Amino acid sequence: MPRRRKRDLIIKGFSKLLKEDKLKIVAELMDNQLETIELLKSFWYADTEKQKIFDEFSENTITNFYIPYGVAPNVMVNGKTYLVPMVIEESSVVAAASSAARFWSEHGGFHAEVTDTVKEGQVHFQWEGPTAKLQSVFNELKALFRENTRHITANMEKRGGGILDFELIDKTGQLKNYYQIKVTFETKDSMGANFINSCLEEFAKTLREFFANYEAFEGKEKEVLVIMSILSNYTPQCLVKTWVEGDFKDLENIDNSLTGEQFARKFETAVRIAEIDVYRATTHNKGIFNGIDSVAIATGNDFRAIEAAGHAYASRSGRYQSLSHVKITGTHFKYWIETPLAMGTVGGLTSLHPLAKSSLEMLGKPSAKELMMITAAVGLANNFAALRSLVTKGIQVGHMKMHLMNILNYYKATLEEKEKAQAYFANHKVSFAEVGEFINNLRLAL
Ligand code: MEV
Repeated sequence: MPRRRKRDLIIKGFSKLLKEDKLKIVAELMDNQLETIELLKSFWYADTEKQKIFDEFSENTITNFYIPYGVAPNVMVNGKTYLVPMVIEESSVVAAASSAARFWSEHGGFHAEVTDTVKEGQVHFQWEGPTAKLQSVFNELKALFRENTRHITANMEKRGGGILDFELIDKTGQLKNYYQIKVTFETKDSMGANFINSCLEEFAKTLREFFANYEAFEGKEKEVLVIMSILSNYTPQCLVKTWVEGDFKDLENIDNSLTGEQFARKFETAVRIAEIDVYRATTHNKGIFNGIDSVAIATGNDFRAIEAAGHAYASRSGRYQSLSHVKITGTHFKYWIETPLAMGTVGGLTSLHPLAKSSLEMLGKPSAKELMMITAAVGLANNFAALRSLVTKGIQVGHMKMHLMNILNYYKATLEEKEKAQAYFANHKVSFAEVGEFINNLRLAL
C-alpha cells in the first residue's frame, strides 16, 4: 500500500507536475489509493485530443466532473418552438421546465423582448486635486481613450459593437479622492468580458500617461493612482423580459381542487410573498436560476456572472425581491420575469466546448438576444412549475418521485429491484427510509 499523505503538508510547484503525478498526490489522501486513481481516470475521455481540450479550460485538472445534460422540449418563445439543452444535477428541474413549457405552449407560449444589451466597465482611481480640473480635461481624455483602443475595438465595431460612452463619476463623498470612469459597451453576440477588460486596462494606461504629461497639472495632480480596471457583472442595461398571459379559464384544470380563478389568486399571493419576504424571495429566485443556470451552462455561458447580476437586480429597490411578478386584471392573468442576462453566442467557451457548440446548434444558432429570451423563458417556466406545485400538492410528491432513482442508486438497487420500486412508488410516498425498507424487504424475501 503506498504511503498516506499528511493533510497539513504544503505542496510546492503542484501546477508544474504531470497530470499522473498530481493524481497520485490526490490519491495519497484517500483510504484506497489505487481505487481512487482508477475512479478519477475512468472519467477521462479515451480520445486524448478531446481530453486535452478539457484539461486546458482550467488548471491542475485531474479528471472531468460530469453533470447530466438534458433537454426541455416545447419551449415556445415568440411563436418559435425550441428544444432547450439544460445542464443540471438536480432531479425534477428539467421535468418541471418541460411540463411548464408544454402547458404554456398550449396557451400562446412565452413572449419575450430584450430591452437593451449594454454592458459596463469601470476604471477605479484616486486623484488629489480639484474635481473641476479633472472635469475640464475629460473630453480630451475621452478622445484619447477611443484613439488608444482602436486596435482592440476595430473588430467589434465591424460587428456593430464597440465603446458607447464614458462618464466621469465623482465618488469623493464616499471615499477619499475616489473617482470612476464608467464606460458603456455594446458587445453584440459575444459576452464581451475579455474585450471590455482589455479596453479598460488600456484606458487606465492612457489615464496615467495623460496625467503625468499634462502641462496644466502640477505636483500631486500629475499622479493618478489606478486602483483597478474591470467590467461590472451588474448589467441592469442588459435586460430581458419574458411573460405568459391568459384568462382564468386557461388555468382551470391545473388542480382538481381549485378553479382557474382560485389557482390564479393563490399563485399571485405566492409571488407577492416573494416580493415582500427575503427568505421566500431567495428560494423563489433560486428556482428561477435552476432554469437559467442550466441553459447558461449548456451553452457555455458564465452562470456565476448571470446569477450575480440577477441577485443584484433583485435588490435594486434596496430590498431583495422576487424577479418574477404577476398582475391580474379582471379575469386576465399576466405573469412575467424581468432580469439582466449577459449572455453570448460567440467567443469564449461557446465555441471551444464541443457540447456548448452543439447546444447552440440545437437552438438554431441563436443571436445573444435570442438566447437571452430562451433562457429567461426557461427561468420563468421553472418558476411557474415550482409555484404551481407549491400552491397545490406541494413539491415533495413530484420531487421525491424524480429523486427515487437517486435513492435506488444509493442502495445499489438492481434493474429488477428498480422496476419493482418504480411500480410500487408510483402510488406511495417516496422517502429515503421507505425506499430503504422496500429494498430491504425485497432482498429478505429472496
Ligand atoms: C428547488 O430547487 C427550487 C424550489 O425550492 C423553488 C421554489 O421554492 O420556488 C422548488
